[in-house]
Amino acid sequence: MMTPHPTHDSLRFDDRVVIVTGAGQGLGRSHALDFARRGAQVVVNDLGSAASGGGSDRSVAQAVVKEIEAAGGTAVASTDSVEDGDKIVQAAMDHFGRVDVVVNNAGILRDVSFAKMTDADWDQVNQVHLRGSYRVSHAAWPHMRAQGFGRIVMKTSVSGIYGSFGQANYAAAKMGLIGLAQTLSLEGASRNILANAIAPTAASRLTATVLPSDVLDVLRPEYVTPAVVLLSHENSNVTGRLFEVGGGWICEVRWEQTEGAYFEELFSAEQLDARWAEVTDFSRSRHATSVAEVKTGVLERTGRPMILAPQP
Ligand code: NAI
Repeated sequence: MMTPHPTHDSLRFDDRVVIVTGAGQGLGRSHALDFARRGAQVVVNDLGSAASGGGSDRSVAQAVVKEIEAAGGTAVASTDSVEDGDKIVQAAMDHFGRVDVVVNNAGILRDVSFAKMTDADWDQVNQVHLRGSYRVSHAAWPHMRAQGFGRIVMKTSVSGIYGSFGQANYAAAKMGLIGLAQTLSLEGASRNILANAIAPTAASRLTATVLPSDVLDVLRPEYVTPAVVLLSHENSNVTGRLFEVGGGWICEVRWEQTEGAYFEELFSAEQLDARWAEVTDFSRSRHATSVAEVKTGVLERTGRPMILAPQP
């Protein structure tokens, strides 16, 4: 099998404890194996659920632990749902005494058109992706703050960034994770806690039904893992950022604001309509990376940016 690691591993994770959720297969398994190979003590979390949620199978996480141990690494299985994130973090504390990295990777799909979507479709997908990532990160947060170190990687999706037919539940949850990562990057900055989001594309059971087989062949999960590992390393200073990764390609994604139109007085919809071309003109644009940099009417009106004071 081709190795995606042609050079020696200078990015080590010795003495680091890494939680990878949904690590029993697909992307999470690839991440867990690489972290372990680089010296990390890994909590391999996986409920072993069906691709659409529901059910559980403890052997899924345990199989990856066995793989890691067979290769000389250290890992423990956690078979709780990410909805019980505190139990997953407790497993890290019980077995390894700390938690340095959280990769929020567990996920399910319940694709259906919005017209046919039930509350259960909406709730279950949001519970696993958004609430699950919140629960694990929130349980790890006090440990990361106390030790002055933490790395959090959220798995988002191009479905969230751009929208995706039949995935309103999933897209909403995935977009929520970008906001969560960006906010944790702000609240964690003073304690060396970095948080980023990556939108992967990889062959897995989640994509087997939506991508053609010749495309799936070039989308090995191992092409996504280097981004997760690099963003999780102690030398990284990258935070609050968003990347698309897969098939040997990686890029960064950012927001873009047009120069926009400014009205000195209250204005009508008709007056707005008359200046719509200015509102949507990207020929002169800006790429704000914080609320302080965002151009708002407040800035135009008062000459001051709309800065929200950080809370302790
Ligand atoms: P996968 O289905 O191969 O792996 C997901 C794992 O999460 C499964 O082993 C499953 O048992 C586990 N899981 C599900 N619910 C859980 C829960 N409540 N608690 C703990 N574990 C649970 O999927 P894949 O493709 O590896 O996806 C990993 C992540 O990457 C997901 O968040 C997915 O949304 C995201 N992603 C994947 C893309 C792809 O192209 N494969 C595209 C965009 C995002």
